[in-house]
Amino acid sequence: MKKILIVIAMILTSLISFNVKAEEGNMTDKKVLVAYFSATGTTAGVADKLAKVTGGELFEIKPAQPYSEADLDWRNNQSRSSVEMADMNSRPKIASKVENMSQYNVVFIGFPIWWYREPSIIDTFMESYDFAGKTVIPFATSGSSGMGKSGENMQKLAPNAKVFEGKRFPANVSEEVLKTWADEWL
Ligand SMILES: Cc1cc2nc3c(=O)[nH]c(=O)nc-3n(C[C@H](O)[C@H](O)[C@H](O)COP(=O)(O)O)c2cc1C
Repeated sequence: MKKILIVIAMILTSLISFNVKAEEGNMTDKKVLVAYFSATGTTAGVADKLAKVTGGELFEIKPAQPYSEADLDWRNNQSRSSVEMADMNSRPKIASKVENMSQYNVVFIGFPIWWYREPSIIDTFMESYDFAGKTVIPFATSGSSGMGKSGENMQKLAPNAKVFEGKRFPANVSEEVLKTWADEWL
């Protein structure tokens, strides 16, 4: 009898400490995806750190047709990125799909700011899945611009999701800063 009581006490103690840890934000029962598009690697670096501190799965949104340097020339209004970004209905194709999107509760979506907003390929991503009931948090890198209307645009494309405004980070943002920021949703 005494042994049984000791075992029960041990189980209760471990359950309580598990709960405390969960409340402290060290653990989460939420399944996290960090999906990102990065044309020149800057956003990829931030996405890596974010996946590490959130314990999330990392998914790269790879364009079916990669962007060449000429494609990215924002000074040329005929370049591929300029043409795509001038058209809100442009939907560049993505090379692969997230496996079993339904398993995720929280989806961080990263991208470079292009022309003050999310690149068109992010619009393709938003329309490619059912985000019903999911929390979506955009994050970005840029020369200096903020998020602009990125979150608003993305919310319109996934009306059943809860899309937050999100945040732009410098390329060298620390893991600590990312963790403090991300904890709000975990
Ligand atoms: C086509 C294009 C448009 C851009 N537009 C902006 C902009 O409006 N504001 C800004 O601050 N930076 C702008 N940038 C700079 C990128 O946002 C910045 O270099 C970003 O960190 C690149 O991320 P990546 O390496 O993940 O692609 C633009 C870059 C490109 C290629």
